Amino acid sequence: MGEFVRVDVENGVATIRLDRPKMNAINAQMQGEIAEAALQVSADDDIRAAVIYGGEKVFAAGADIKEMAEMSYAVMSAHSRRLQGFTKALAAIPKPVIAAITGYALGGGLEVALAADFRVVGEGARLGQPEIQLGIIPGAGGTQRLARLVGPARAKDLVFSGRHVKADEALAMGLVDRVVPDADVYAEALKLAERYKNGPAMALSAAKQAIDSGLDVDLDTGLEIERLQFSALFATEDQKTGMTSFLEQGPGKAGFIGH
Ligand code: CAA
Repeated sequence: MGEFVRVDVENGVATIRLDRPKMNAINAQMQGEIAEAALQVSADDDIRAAVIYGGEKVFAAGADIKEMAEMSYAVMSAHSRRLQGFTKALAAIPKPVIAAITGYALGGGLEVALAADFRVVGEGARLGQPEIQLGIIPGAGGTQRLARLVGPARAKDLVFSGRHVKADEALAMGLVDRVVPDADVYAEALKLAERYKNGPAMALSAAKQAIDSGLDVDLDTGLEIERLQFSALFATEDQKTGMTSFLEQGPGKAGFIGH
């Protein structure tokens, strides 16, 4: 448990809670704590899905500008690896991860959300990559994950302008997956995460890795990643259970154990 980030686990679903008033500005310490939380969620077999949540008012307003303002090129050149590292650690969680967003998800805050598999936002949410207004560009994965998610032209619009996008526009461009009343964001994200908690964990992990890794390589390499992941699942008990259950009782009735 860190000073600004804690992991609460209930019924197989972890909540990675960001908590650094007033705006969850992500300073270096918090970046380290997010990376630690991601490793904890990755390593704990009892955790089957996760929600990243910034609380009722704000998801996160980005990296801590006060901390970065006076950094030199030499300092940032070293620090920037850690800046990418904490969102990489989140993206590498081999389980379904849902970002639950109320209020602002800006800069590094949006980059945290982009490292999740799905984004549930409140009607009042505002999302953006405003770094250009600070004379910089996104540095925690934003130029890459945003463009992969919404396409290069939409990503360039957001990154070149720094403008804030409202929930309905974010939904229309595929930046978020579900818009709900602000008060329902966390409950809705938990509900989504809970769908996966009794699922075939290794197959879910294989699906996530095949899709994410496949997006970064040419089609033939992606197909090879899929083929290897697909074959490997035939070493799991859940594959035997899933297929036997189908043959004996029809689809969708298997009780999986997660390995
Ligand atoms: N870093 C440090 N402090 C921040 C912050 C940030 N990213 N965002 C907000 N704060 C602080 C404000 O300085 C203010 O502090 P004080 O009360 O001590 O003055 C406090 O949080 C409240 O903020 P505002 O008074 O500005 O609140 P608001 O409701 O008027 O506006 C906001 C909210 C739209 C989020 C506005 O604060 C804002 O634009 N924040 C900066 C957003 C931003 O540029 N994010 C990108 C950061 S760079 C980055 O993330 C790089 C990367 O890729 C990793």
